[in-house]
Amino acid sequence: MQRLTIVAILLTLSTRPLAAGTSNSLLDVSPDGTRLLVANTDNGTVTVIDTAKREVIREIDVGPKPECVAWIGNGPRAAATLYAGSAVVFFDAATGKVGKKLPVKFEPYGIVTDKAGRRGWVTHDYLGLVSELDLDKETVTREIPAGSFTRGLALSPDEKRLYVAEFFTGILNAIDLDSGKIVDSWTGHSTDNLLRQVALHPTRPKAYLPHIRSIIKTIDGAGSIFPQMSVCDLKTPPASPPPKGGDIGGVRRRISFGMDTFNGIYVVTNPWEVALSPDAKRLYIIYAGTNDMNVCEVVDDDYKEIERIGDAVKIGKNPRAIRVSPDGKSVYVYHAMDFAVDVYSPLMKKVATIKTCAPPKTPEWVLGKILFNTALPPLTSRRWIACSSCHPDGMHDARVWNNPEGQRKTTALLAMAHTHPLHWSADRDEVQDFEYTIRSKLMGGRGLVKGPIRGKKAFEKAELEDTTANRSKELDALAIYCNSFEPPLSPHAAGPGKLTPAAERGKAIFLRSDVACATCHSGPFFTDSTLQKPYKVHDVGTGNDDPSEKMGPLYDTPTLLGIYRTAPYLHHGKAKTLLDVLTTQNKGDKHGKTSHLAKADLEDLVEFLKSLPYETPPTVTPNTVSFRLQPTK
Ligand code: HEC
Ligand code: HEC
Repeated sequence: MQRLTIVAILLTLSTRPLAAGTSNSLLDVSPDGTRLLVANTDNGTVTVIDTAKREVIREIDVGPKPECVAWIGNGPRAAATLYAGSAVVFFDAATGKVGKKLPVKFEPYGIVTDKAGRRGWVTHDYLGLVSELDLDKETVTREIPAGSFTRGLALSPDEKRLYVAEFFTGILNAIDLDSGKIVDSWTGHSTDNLLRQVALHPTRPKAYLPHIRSIIKTIDGAGSIFPQMSVCDLKTPPASPPPKGGDIGGVRRRISFGMDTFNGIYVVTNPWEVALSPDAKRLYIIYAGTNDMNVCEVVDDDYKEIERIGDAVKIGKNPRAIRVSPDGKSVYVYHAMDFAVDVYSPLMKKVATIKTCAPPKTPEWVLGKILFNTALPPLTSRRWIACSSCHPDGMHDARVWNNPEGQRKTTALLAMAHTHPLHWSADRDEVQDFEYTIRSKLMGGRGLVKGPIRGKKAFEKAELEDTTANRSKELDALAIYCNSFEPPLSPHAAGPGKLTPAAERGKAIFLRSDVACATCHSGPFFTDSTLQKPYKVHDVGTGNDDPSEKMGPLYDTPTLLGIYRTAPYLHHGKAKTLLDVLTTQNKGDKHGKTSHLAKADLEDLVEFLKSLPYETPPTVTPNTVSFRLQPTK
């Protein structure tokens, strides 16, 4: 009798699927497999799906920009991060009732919960922090420094460690939950970039990281951006203190696979998420730029790791999340720009499509976002690259590209509707001029305008002579999307409209006539840029000593809104910090007068710069362009 019970228990244990490691995603399946949660980032909602009926139960208003959602225990409670609301929202998926919005630090991105539903963890993007949550009391219990620009997050199967992924470096950090400290790190290649997620093998010590490589030396559609997947060996390192990256005792701690060669040189773009089947036999990887994915067999070794099952599979528009059901029989893919979850069989036969929400904002904005995210024709000819490979969701990639015209730091598109002209050298006056980028060697696309555009010799500013607006519905939509990013209030501000005492002192220095910052960085957007000709451009001593510079040394004054999170600085990115802009990069006092300022004054000035914006800028100025999302009243 007793023996039979033991056998029965063993049997249930062996047939019970292993949890495939909790990791951050826009999708989460309930442990019993009956419900699916989908975070609709642009709509501010979470959709609850009945997986048996394959239909939507309800769509819940949760708040601005949910970037991740997670069940608490077996539900029906769940939580989502509100990236633009600095909060974690708790809700009941069964009733649709929204509970507490727990204020947390700035830019909460990923969230995972433990199996018991007692503790949860949240990554904070810009701040590089993890918040630990008490899910019963709905409070923050700890804040743990976790790296820089931390997004991806996974909880180890034994719930003793967190694995945290850095967005701009691709580095994986391990945090020991007892001590609350980073105890290990896996560094990849210096070109690794845009890592959003980490998934863990449920039984073997392996982490899977989807990301790209940004090869800044090559401005060529076929050589600038590469799709990668890195696999980290998580075995406890023998050395103490733990080494940064590198190989230990012949074990390769981190291997990176080029997903283009992996696919027999079939190009896939912008790896976004990975998921393991619960039995860990299969690994799925989705590509948000080319709308396809790989199904792989997980190999139990330390060098091959994965083997492709068949060719890459075509799926829907802009896939951003993937999850497998606990029984391994259904694969769910969230196609962000179809606003739908598709249900597939394990080998990717489509079974159903479930619409999760209505398209947000306006049809033009939606079309613009689709074009911005795609690496398919007519934006490119060879599939390697999308606008979002360098400007993820309108932000920047923290890289300085060796463009033909010189060193060029990628710009975040913040406040752009009000700060035209465009480019560091003010050589474009409308976003539609990015038709020139689409048709350039970088993207090699046919373009969105029918017929020819004005030719361009060397570095002449042909774009300023050519009117590209109103020539293509698609190009106008791309402009509306690009002009839609408004900067949130800085986390360094003391509160809406308020500065810290140090920043207040820095503001007084900024406004001083002998320091002169405000002569160029003027008005609510902290720039004197206007579309009135001749454009105001300035030599601030930054472009003279660089032989690669073909258009300098006169540059457009950049806005200072949001610069706390957009290092490195200046057109060439030579200023690693804001203090460098004012010191090592301003030796001749041509960029405002700063040499006479005491160290404490410089520090106060930096505090002020970091606080921008500390009040909401106007929605319209005389320089605001018309191709943009009209603000809602
Ligand atoms: C390889 C990386 C890369 C890709 C791909 C890319 N950009 Fe950029 N983008 C940059 C860099 C670098 C700059 C700064 C260039 C300069 O100022 O001369 C920039 C600047 C811009 C600006 C000007 C912002 C301002 O405030 O001045 C806009 C708008 C823009 N890009 C839109 C796009 C669009 C639209 C696409 C796709 C058609 C695209 N970019 C593709 C790297 C990239
Ligand atoms: C004569 C006009 C002018 C004055 C005066 C001026 N700036 Fe600038 N500022 C610019 C220009 C032009 C650039 C871009 C230069 C480049 O990229 O090489 C710039 C760039 C910057 C940047 C880098 C922004 C980024 O996104 O990389 C910061 C920060 C900045 N300025 C702060 C200041 C401060 C603080 C002062 C006062 C000490 C000041 N500036 C004075 C014109 C000016």
